[in-house]
Amino acid sequence: MTTITEILDIQAIRADFPILNQEINGKKLVYFDNAATTQKPTSVIDAIAHYYNFDNANIHRGIHTLAERATRDFEASREAIRAFLGASSIEEIIFTSGTTQGINLVASTFGRKFIKEGDEIIISGLEHHSNIVPWQMLCEEKGIKLKVIPVTDLGELDMEAYQNMLSEKVKLVSVNHVSNSLGTINPVKEIIDLAHSFGAKVLIDGAQASSHLNIDVQALDADFYTLSAHKLYGPTGIGVLYGKKEILNAMPPYMGGGEMIKEVTFEKTTYNELPYKFEAGTPNIADVVALKTALEYIAFHGKENIAAHEDMLLHYATEQLLEIDGLKIIGQAKEKVSVISFVMDGIHPQDIGVLLDNQGIAVRTGHHCTQPLMQRFNIVGTTRASFAVYNTTEEIDRLVAGIHRVKKMLL
Ligand SMILES: Cc1ncc(COP(=O)(O)O)c(C=O)c1O
Repeated sequence: MTTITEILDIQAIRADFPILNQEINGKKLVYFDNAATTQKPTSVIDAIAHYYNFDNANIHRGIHTLAERATRDFEASREAIRAFLGASSIEEIIFTSGTTQGINLVASTFGRKFIKEGDEIIISGLEHHSNIVPWQMLCEEKGIKLKVIPVTDLGELDMEAYQNMLSEKVKLVSVNHVSNSLGTINPVKEIIDLAHSFGAKVLIDGAQASSHLNIDVQALDADFYTLSAHKLYGPTGIGVLYGKKEILNAMPPYMGGGEMIKEVTFEKTTYNELPYKFEAGTPNIADVVALKTALEYIAFHGKENIAAHEDMLLHYATEQLLEIDGLKIIGQAKEKVSVISFVMDGIHPQDIGVLLDNQGIAVRTGHHCTQPLMQRFNIVGTTRASFAVYNTTEEIDRLVAGIHRVKKMLL
C-alpha cells in the first residue's frame, strides 16, 4: 500500500464543504464525481451571498459606490486568475461561461478568420465533445480537414503519429491538458513546441488540469488555454479563456453588444480594447467574484499539497480496485491525475452506478462526453471515480466494498 505523510488536515478540509455532511440513501455520502464538477467550500458559497447581499451592481461605467465595489471585485478576480495561469497581462484573460464557450469562441473568431479551405486542424482521440464538435462545425463550414492523434492501449497520445501529421497545412492544434475520461496528463509542452515549429497555433483545454496541476501559460507557450471554474471548487457558469495578446488583437469579436464596443453609430462600430472586446453583455459578476475565493482556497492549502494527497488516493485506489476479479482499468498512462475509469466483466456501467448510489457513493457512468474514445476501446462506457482534496482512503474502501456488493447482487 502507498503511504505518504499527510500535510493537509483532510477532516478539517471536509468540514469546509457542507454538502459532504449528508446521507444519501441512508449512507454517508461519498462524492467521487469530481471530474464532472467539484463541490464548493463555504467561503465560495459565502462570497456569492456576500456579493448579492452587499455589492450587487452592474460593472464598469457606474459611478456610484456599489458599481465601484462590484467592478473592483470583478477585476480583482481577473488579476487573480492571471496570476493563477502565469499570464503576463490581464488583457489576455477573458471571462466566459466555461471551457465549452472558450473553445467555441476561438473556433468562431480565430478559426473563421485564419483557417481556410484546404488547411488542417489537429485534435486528439482523448478529447471531450466540446473540443471536437466546434472544430467539426468549422471544418464543415469551410472545407477544412480535421485530423485526430490516435490513442495507445495505455490511454496515452501516440506522439510519433502526431509528429507525422504535422505540416505547414496545419493551422491549429487543440488538445486537452488532462483527459476527463482516463486522467491521462498529456505532454502539452512537447505538443505545443512541435506545432509551433510548423507555424500552427495551439489551444489547450485545461478543464481537467486546472485543479490538479500548476499551470504556466508562458512557460508552456500556449496560444490559448481554457478552463471552467466549477472544476476547481468555484461556481458553475464561469470560465476563462487565456489568449496571447497579439493573437486576441488580430481576432474579430465573438458576440456583439454592450461592453465590447468603443463607439457605435449606424454607419460603423469600433470595438473595445482587450479583454472587453470579447465580453459582450452583463457578465456573471457574482460567480466571477467567487472564482477568486476558490483560487484563494486552493492557494491556502497549496496546489502541491492537494496534488500529493490526490496522487496518494489515485495509487491507493488503483491498487485496491485491481484486486477485484473481473475489473479492468481503462487508461493506465504513466502520467495521470486522480481519475480512474473501469469496466467490469458482465456488468453494465450504469448498473454499477445505480447500485453504488444506493450505497451513498456517487460515481459517473457512461461515455463521459468522449464517445470516440469509448469506441477506441470498444466499450459502451466506463464507471469513473475521480478524487478531490476532500476524499479519503476510507471512502475508497467503501467504493471497493460497494463494488463487491454489486458483484454479489448481479453475478
Ligand atoms: C476535458 C474537458 N473539456 C471540456 C469540458 C467542458 O467543460 P464545461 O462543461 O465546463 O464547459 C469538460 C467537462 O467535463 C472536460 O472535462
